[in-house]
Amino acid sequence: MIESKRLILRAWRDADREPFAAMCADPEVMRHFPAPLTRAESDAVVERMLAHQAEHGFCFFALERKSDGGFLGFTGMMTLKPENPLQPGVEIGWRLAREAWGAGYASEAASAAIVHGFDSLGLKRIVSFTATQNARSQAVMQRIGMTRRADLDFDHPAVPEGHRLRPHVVYAIERR
Ligand SMILES: CC(C)(COP(=O)(O)OP(=O)(O)OC[C@H]1O[C@@H](n2cnc3c(N)ncnc32)[C@H](O)[C@@H]1OP(=O)(O)O)[C@@H](O)C(=O)NCCC(=O)NCCS
Repeated sequence: MIESKRLILRAWRDADREPFAAMCADPEVMRHFPAPLTRAESDAVVERMLAHQAEHGFCFFALERKSDGGFLGFTGMMTLKPENPLQPGVEIGWRLAREAWGAGYASEAASAAIVHGFDSLGLKRIVSFTATQNARSQAVMQRIGMTRRADLDFDHPAVPEGHRLRPHVVYAIERR
């Protein structure tokens, strides 16, 4: 578990599945992904997080607001998939329900996750990447002190050639 002033990053619970599926079915939240997710696809993401936490001790954690216990989405770290051109390494990522945007939650959670990654997990570098048009996500990367790495930009291998979501920009932060 990771804690910040207003937030808790914690292991996934069964009760998170419903609000997570609602969030992943929102076309605005999923605008920079190929499509919104069905309930089964959303549940499969939760399963992937649970398996990753069991294997590595971390994942894209469920994000909870301390004041009311509300489920806000996820923030955390994942090892890069084998097909990712940046691998081997660890990425930081976030996805929040629309009602939770505009409050600084993603940046607050991500900053706490980075401290955890460097101080507790001993990582040397954490990367982040997103579709070129995803300005909000890039703003989070900038706010938490990541550096734009245009030299590492890549076309996402899981997105078809010519698709608007294929070109990705990369940011990174190194342990000091
Ligand atoms: C990417 C995403 C998490 C960013 O959310 P966000 O709310 O814009 O980012 P933050 O939580 O850091 O909040 C920053 C905003 O809160 C405002 N804010 C309000 N109170 C604040 C506070 N106490 N501290 C910091 N910022 C605060 C900031 O001014 C900023 O507002 P702005 O967008 O008008 O400039 C969100 O848009 C999202 O979930 N998108 C869909 C999923 C996605 O694309 N994920 C990334 C894929 S790689």
